[in-house]
Amino acid sequence: MQKGLSPIKPVMNIYVILVASIAAIAGILFGFDTGVISGAILFIRHDFTLSPAMNGLVVGSVLAGAVVGSAFSGRFADYFGRRNVLIITALVFVVGTLGSAMAHSIQFLIIGRVVVGVAIGIASFTAPLYISEVAPAAYRGALVSLNQLAITLGILLAYLVDTVYAAQEAWRAMFAWGVLPAVILLFGMLFLPKSPRWLLLKGDELLSRRTLKKIRGHEDIDDEIEEIQNSIASKSSWRLLLRKWVWPAIGIGLGLGFFQQCTGINTIIYYAPTVFQLAGFSTASGAITVTSIVGVVNVMFTIFALPLIDRWGRRPLLVLGLSGMLLSLLMLSLAFHIGEGHALLKWMSLFSMVVYIACFAMSLGPIMWLIIAEVFPLEIRGLGTSLMVAASWLFNFLVAVTFLTLIKCFGETGTFLIYAAMSVFGLWFVIACVPETKGTTLEKIEVNLRAGVKSRYLGQ
Ligand code: BGC
Repeated sequence: MQKGLSPIKPVMNIYVILVASIAAIAGILFGFDTGVISGAILFIRHDFTLSPAMNGLVVGSVLAGAVVGSAFSGRFADYFGRRNVLIITALVFVVGTLGSAMAHSIQFLIIGRVVVGVAIGIASFTAPLYISEVAPAAYRGALVSLNQLAITLGILLAYLVDTVYAAQEAWRAMFAWGVLPAVILLFGMLFLPKSPRWLLLKGDELLSRRTLKKIRGHEDIDDEIEEIQNSIASKSSWRLLLRKWVWPAIGIGLGLGFFQQCTGINTIIYYAPTVFQLAGFSTASGAITVTSIVGVVNVMFTIFALPLIDRWGRRPLLVLGLSGMLLSLLMLSLAFHIGEGHALLKWMSLFSMVVYIACFAMSLGPIMWLIIAEVFPLEIRGLGTSLMVAASWLFNFLVAVTFLTLIKCFGETGTFLIYAAMSVFGLWFVIACVPETKGTTLEKIEVNLRAGVKSRYLGQ
C-alpha cells in the first residue's frame, strides 16, 4: 500500500472488495488467454503443420492485438467510461474466444486470437484504472498489485484446463473455457457502478456523489470529490509527454517494461511445455502436466511477494529477483549444453524454470506494473501508463514471435544465454536507474521530477 496518497481515512468495505474483485476478473482473462496457448500450441502445431515462424505468429497474434488494444485503451476508457469499456471488452472476449475455438484454418485462428488480444490489451489498462478509481486512496497500491495476482491465477487456470484436455489433444476445448470468465465479467460488470471519477470527468457531479457514497458506505465524501475535481482540472495531452522533465519517468517505465519481457518470462509462460518436450518429457500431456507446477509456483510467489513490496521495498526485491532469474537462466542453458540425451536434463530444466518463475513472481512481475502506475505526474498518469502498457505488449510480442526462431538459430543453450545476458543488463538498469518508491508520496516523486532529480533518487 502506498503511504501518503491522500488524507482520506482508509475505509475498506465488503462492497468495494466485491467491486474490485469482479473487475479483477479481467486480470484472470489476461492470464488465461495468454497462458492457454502453451498447451494448445503443441496440438495446433501438429494439426496445421506449422513452421517455427508460423508457430511464433500463432502465439504472438494475441500479443499483436494487445499492443493495438492497449494503445487505444486510454481514449476508449475516457470516451465510453471504464465500466462500459469493460462490458464491451467482455463481449469481444467471447467473440474472439469462440472464433479461435472454432477456427478451421490457420488464418481464421490467427484472426480470432488477434481479436482476443485487442480485448486483453484494453482490459489490461482499463481494469486496474477502474479498480484504482473506486478503491479508497490508501488501498490503491495494494489493489494494483492484486491485478498481478489475478493474472497469475488466470495462467494457472489455463494450465489446469490444458492438463485436463491434453490427453484428448482437444485444443479447441482449451480455448473455449475462456468464455466462462468472460461471461462472468460481462454479467458482473452490468451490476457495478460507473467510476465516480469518470462521472465527474463527464460533469455528472450528482451521480458521482451518489455513487461514491454507496461505494464508501458513508456520507463524508466532500474531500474526496474535491481531490478528484482538482486532479481533473489539469488537462492531459500527448504533448506533455514531450516535456524534458517527464523523460526520466518514461525511461523508467520503458526500461522496466523492456526488461520484464526481454528477460524471457513468456518463453516460459507460453512455451514451457515446448521446452519440457525439448528437455526430454516425451509425451505432450506429460509436458503440459509438469507445466502446472510452474503455474502454482507463479501464484504462490506472487502471494509471498505482495506484502514484501512495501516492507522490503521495490529495489531489493528487483535485485534479488533478477539475480535469481540470471542464475536460473544460466542453469537452464547449462542443462541443455551438457544434458542432451541425459536423463538429468529434464529435472534440471524443471528445477531451473521453477526457480526462474519464483524469482520473476517476487520481482519484475508485480513491481513493473506498480512502478509504471507510480512514476508519472498526475496530469499525464493515464496517458503515460497506457503508453507503457502498450510498449510492454510490444516487447512481449517480439519475444514470443522470435523465441522458436532463436532456438533454431542458436540452440536452446544459446537462446537462454541471450536472456541471461538481458538479465545482467536488467540488473544494471535497476541498480542505476530505478527509484525506491516505497513509502514515498506520488506528489514527492512529481516534485523531484520537476526539479530534475536523477531517476534513481526520485523517491527520496
Ligand atoms: C507479465 C506477463 C506475464 C505474467 C506472468 C505479467 O506481469 O506482464 O507478460 O505473462 O506476468 O505471471
